[in-house]
Amino acid sequence: MKQIQMTKNSSFSLISTKKIIQMNDVWTSYDSKNFALEGINMSIDRGTNYAIVGQSGSGKSTLLKLLNGMMIPSKGTIKVDYVTPNMNDKKFKKMMHTIGYIPQSLGLIKNVTVIENILIGALPRLNKIQSMFKKFPENEIKEAKRILKLVGLSGKENRKAYMLSGGEKRRVAIARALMQKPTILLADEIVSELDHVTAREIMDLIADAQKRMNLTAIMVHHDMQLALEYANRVAVIKDGQKILEIGVEGDTIVDFQTGNMTTEEIKEMYANDSQK
Ligand SMILES: Nc1ncnc2c1ncn2[C@@H]1O[C@H](COP(=O)(O)OP(=O)(O)O)[C@@H](O)[C@H]1O
Ligand SMILES: [Mg+2]
Repeated sequence: MKQIQMTKNSSFSLISTKKIIQMNDVWTSYDSKNFALEGINMSIDRGTNYAIVGQSGSGKSTLLKLLNGMMIPSKGTIKVDYVTPNMNDKKFKKMMHTIGYIPQSLGLIKNVTVIENILIGALPRLNKIQSMFKKFPENEIKEAKRILKLVGLSGKENRKAYMLSGGEKRRVAIARALMQKPTILLADEIVSELDHVTAREIMDLIADAQKRMNLTAIMVHHDMQLALEYANRVAVIKDGQKILEIGVEGDTIVDFQTGNMTTEEIKEMYANDSQK
């Protein structure tokens, strides 16, 4: 899949290729002694719902931080839409607003209302004065209200964030990310602490938004079952290495790293792995 759009004067205005994420032999360390990630290779197609699964401390959050430019690798290359992620780099800064990042802690402003938290996603689009005084134009407020409805928070717009339930807080964090009009959504274990019903509601919400907006979603999960249910691809990380990459195609699970395995074999492998 390669889309090339031409402008009226026939010059190329946009080249959109299939791969939105490319990681090549990526190593990274927090203390220059131990590596948190060791030789990660990852290639993600545009529009994919990609899940990263692994035990605590395996390097999942580190991986998202690399994609978001919050960390840079000690070795190897990363491209996010053909740009090297680095928060201090001008070119990356310009495209950062297209990445909606939801940290595990969600990053909501507790004493601020739901609608104001959502509007924060629009800040990169405001001019300096509007941004300084948080003066949001009418069209942005309208858009925030539309997204508020989309995530099922109608009637809660003026509630302070700290008053919300766990599921509602996640909805606000997702709405804030969608308000950015992102092309990529990075979410770090946002459904891990929720009961199964609420977790599924949140996952359905993201799947729906993904279809509407042609998003590439990269989500870190603790639960393999949930990951397999929603993702097109699931990468399993262990001790900083990607040990498995699987995809669901119809009723079968295809192993993209080592050949075909059955669902049961994969589940069994993961179950054994988590008991170690
Ligand atoms: N800020 C940090 N400073 C030093 N080491 C860290 C830091 N954050 C994470 N690590 C280490 O990096 C490894 C991977 O951590 P992390 O990516 O948070 O794992 P996960 O998200 O899978 O639980 C762990 O060994 C962890 O202790
Ligand atoms: Mg983590």
